[in-house]
Amino acid sequence: MLAVGLAAPHVSSPRNCRMDLIVGVDIVKNMVQVAKEKVREKDSRSMIEFVVCDGRQLPFRDSSLEALVSRGDVFPWLIPQEKTLREFGRVMASEAIIMMETGNGALMKVNTTSYYFERTHDGKIAYVVCEIDASRDHLVTSYVLGTTSDIARKISQNPEFIRTGWCTGDEYSLEDIKRETVEVRQGLTTHWHTANEFRDLFKTCDFEEIEVTGDGLLMKLLAEGNQGKYQCMKERPELFFEVEKRLIPYLNPDKTPTILVKASRMKEDPEKPHQARD
Ligand SMILES: C[S@@+](CC[C@H](N)C(=O)[O-])C[C@H]1O[C@@H](n2cnc3c(N)ncnc32)[C@H](O)[C@@H]1O
Repeated sequence: MLAVGLAAPHVSSPRNCRMDLIVGVDIVKNMVQVAKEKVREKDSRSMIEFVVCDGRQLPFRDSSLEALVSRGDVFPWLIPQEKTLREFGRVMASEAIIMMETGNGALMKVNTTSYYFERTHDGKIAYVVCEIDASRDHLVTSYVLGTTSDIARKISQNPEFIRTGWCTGDEYSLEDIKRETVEVRQGLTTHWHTANEFRDLFKTCDFEEIEVTGDGLLMKLLAEGNQGKYQCMKERPELFFEVEKRLIPYLNPDKTPTILVKASRMKEDPEKPHQARD
């Protein structure tokens, strides 16, 4: 089984998994390191290997994997996504299973722009402009402020920013920000699918038995509720995941925060060879 995009321990965890070998890949070396440590803590007997690589170009032979899992909003980054899904299909054996989980594009407010301040991974303060266009492409541009800039100084004293590393930036104009910017960082454009788009994409890429379901409603309800309920979820995650799992068959994937896709690789047609890698 292949897990694309790591970080969270449960992805690389061997719990309930009867695969002979699990391979976890991530493009970020540190994420692979985190996953390795989690696995070591949880179960040292498992056959788990890790590879640092781009999930869009997998260093595996055609038809060599029985299952592929990608959860936690990895797929929106794997652009262009049709090409990536065909690459997943290439390494999957005939009738192998794929499970994917991402945020639901249907819930995104299209044609909107939001502005906020965020602490960057290297400790600076950035003004972030987030645009979602009509086709749910999501574009993020970060304007990194100079450490001595007036705006950065003001934001670094904002209580919400101190507490969370984030605060709204609606009251500043982009012109003001640009005057104090020392670096502009352009993010990758991500794309967020709706349930119907996923059905079409998987069909186009030669998958069958495509099941699209919804998930994440309980987490959303708790997160929007009081801190006590949220804390409860953190203290008893296994109970929370069990309830969430049981809700899945009753949820409408057009309305849930998260979409789950399960599909199988189309049975091999001897007349039709796998698409060659670039
Ligand atoms: C939001 S995290 C999700 C991690 C985990 N699956 C989870 O459920 O928590 C996204 C992960 O995808 C990885 N990622 C992003 N682009 C990637 C790419 N092109 N190839 C492989 N991994 C990638 C990131 O490094 C990060 O570890």
